[in-house]
Amino acid sequence: MEILTTIKETRDKVKEWKAQGLKVALVPTMGYLHEGHRSLIDRAHKENDKVVVSIFVNPMQFGPNEDLDAYPRDLDRDAAICEAGGVDIIFHPSVEEMYGPDFQSYADMHVLPEKLCGASRPVHFRGVQTVVSKLFHIIPAQRAYFGQKDAQQLAIIRRMVIDMDFDIEIIGCPIIREDDGLAKSSRNTYLSEEERKQAVILNQSLNKGMEAIEAGEKDAAKIKQIITDNLNTCPLAKIDYVEVVSFDTIQPIEKVEGAVLIAIAVYIGTTRLIDNRIIL
Ligand code: PAF
Repeated sequence: MEILTTIKETRDKVKEWKAQGLKVALVPTMGYLHEGHRSLIDRAHKENDKVVVSIFVNPMQFGPNEDLDAYPRDLDRDAAICEAGGVDIIFHPSVEEMYGPDFQSYADMHVLPEKLCGASRPVHFRGVQTVVSKLFHIIPAQRAYFGQKDAQQLAIIRRMVIDMDFDIEIIGCPIIREDDGLAKSSRNTYLSEEERKQAVILNQSLNKGMEAIEAGEKDAAKIKQIITDNLNTCPLAKIDYVEVVSFDTIQPIEKVEGAVLIAIAVYIGTTRLIDNRIIL
């Protein structure tokens, strides 16, 4: 496995593989890899000849009061995880390599980024779209793998690929959870012992919502209320949002029918965690 830091050497290597007829996969990450990332790497490895993992904490997707500086980083540990997963290249550029001094272009979108995380993190998805577009140009892979935990991000990237004619297949992979149901996330490391215990409320509350749906409830407002009431039983939980939206448009719906995303964002102490259920 090689760790490459420049756009040119990474692009040249991927082009060389493609000229040899090899299938190349990209797994975009911000590092501090966990089993969720490992599941993306394993799937990419199974389905392709070569795997590139990008590790770049993208400043453009963090708002002014967000946790850019505190975001956990450990390249040695990440490299060991990638090596064990059969990764061929880690692309690990500096901020200067990705955003030169005169940088002034953005990739953006209407509608899909407006609700859910986009409502509470106004610049976030513009930053995600910009960096992911750049990664797709730098690493012209045939497939890219993203986790469904960031369901809105996945919907936005799928839309961007269609709208902008990127020649890449987007593969969404299931959420990986801890034994008690908490969705794996690099941000879980911010939680104190007590916060970590209480963080299971996200998954438990979504389960309550799903139980109601399985029992025949279709009214989105009632499902939101069941999830909200359950979250409110947790002393450390402060709700950012609980939403029932169409998975295609990320707009609120009244009835649970078609492709539906139930998405929540909740502060446990000062750590903002997200989780969801997708009903297809
Ligand atoms: O999901 C992430 O880790 C990031 O948003 C991504 C897609 C790597 C872009 O920085």
